[in-house]
Amino acid sequence: MRSVRHEGSGYRAFPEIPARDSLQVAIEVPMLVHLLRLPTGGRILEVGCGSGAALAELNRRLQPAAIMGADIDLPLLREADARLVSSGVHADLLHADVHALPLPAQSVDLVIDFGTCYHIPDAEGAIREIARVLRPGGLFVHETPVSQHLAHPFRSFGRTLPWKRITSLYLFRTALLWSARARVAAFRTGSP
Ligand SMILES: C[S@@+](CC[C@H](N)C(=O)[O-])C[C@H]1O[C@@H](n2cnc3c(N)ncnc32)[C@H](O)[C@@H]1O
Repeated sequence: MRSVRHEGSGYRAFPEIPARDSLQVAIEVPMLVHLLRLPTGGRILEVGCGSGAALAELNRRLQPAAIMGADIDLPLLREADARLVSSGVHADLLHADVHALPLPAQSVDLVIDFGTCYHIPDAEGAIREIARVLRPGGLFVHETPVSQHLAHPFRSFGRTLPWKRITSLYLFRTALLWSARARVAAFRTGSP
């Protein structure tokens, strides 16, 4: 991932790690899909999709009806667009903040996050927005603290996600490095 500054967002980009994309495609996405037994089909959104390495592989393995990626970094989204076009994958790329996704409520079946929520100032607001766009029973897949601490031991030290304050998602399945949380059947917008 290239390092790009995001003025005002409070997010500090990670330095580029050349092997990251290949590892994500060859190991991370296949393991994640297999261990969490993710459903095929449906509408998928990756928040913080960066340059889109995971999107093409998620598309290949899960055969979604639609696949979307959202990121605040426009240059990275341009890279994602080029990558996906050259792979023949049709994805909708959204230049958007995860706290304000330009998607209707309950319009997505599966949201995937490779660590973004751990590294933004308002993780709670972001997860509430993710819950808003998920349909009831839809899944939010995110990295566990173990995964974050293995990947970024110093930067992630002490970081967790505020699950106790978010009752609209419940733990559905976990597999060491990743967890899937399901969206409850009904909750009022603005409530936990
Ligand atoms: C940890 S990187 C993950 C990138 C890629 N998905 C991967 O797995 O290599 C986090 C990504 O989230 C994006 N990001 C940071 N803050 C964001 C926000 N508030 N809304 C949307 N995307 C954000 C960054 O630009 C970056 O691409």
